[in-house]
Amino acid sequence: MPCLRHTPWCAAHLTLHQFAESLGAAIDVKDDLTCTHSQEVAVLSRHIARAMGLAESRCEAIHIAGHLHDLGKIGIPDHILKKDGPLSNEEWQIMRQHPAMGYSILKPVQALTEGERIADMVLSHHERFDGGGYPNGLAGEAIPLGARIIAVADAMSAMIGHRRYRQEDPWEEAVAEINRCRGSHFDPAVVAAFLRVAEDVGNKIAARPVACQKATPPPAPGFQPLADSLPA
Ligand SMILES: [Fe+2]
Ligand SMILES: [Fe+2]
Repeated sequence: MPCLRHTPWCAAHLTLHQFAESLGAAIDVKDDLTCTHSQEVAVLSRHIARAMGLAESRCEAIHIAGHLHDLGKIGIPDHILKKDGPLSNEEWQIMRQHPAMGYSILKPVQALTEGERIADMVLSHHERFDGGGYPNGLAGEAIPLGARIIAVADAMSAMIGHRRYRQEDPWEEAVAEINRCRGSHFDPAVVAAFLRVAEDVGNKIAARPVACQKATPPPAPGFQPLADSLPA
């Protein structure tokens, strides 16, 4: 949200957003195939929230929750997180702990548990509208709206992104799948809002630079960073 005044609240809010982006990036760099996922979910979630006509402060909170939604994956072992193939039932049980792990990590931050309750959005981003999700089997409007929005953005990002054990889906096919799952997996009102902006958002996503490059290659032997090589 653009800051209209340089108030203490505004500064704190900007810091919160920046930390959320940083923590989201910390998860994304764990995997070179999904390295823009948290950022993508944050951006898609804000587009959907705005399409639903929500107040800008609420859209911003949902955007921040998008950055943080998979933070709990930091507690999932790499051999499960990066497995080349479908997970076993036992591995899924472990993977399904990540929303609660994310909530536990965020819980000490009062700004995330009060107000828009961003931590609750993180906890509930794998709930399904029909009650078949996890961790608590919440249904319908018992699921925080932000979590219902992130669920759509998360699924879109997963379907259009790279995965180890299947090809990525074209944008249109992914949109059709979201539409097919309205009322079961996804909130129909959220899906309707997404469909209103899907074409526009799809064009923006298609135009994005391919950013999945492992941050910085290791320096060549003997390389000295510029600042270190300057005379004292
Ligand atoms: Fe952001
Ligand atoms: Fe997740």
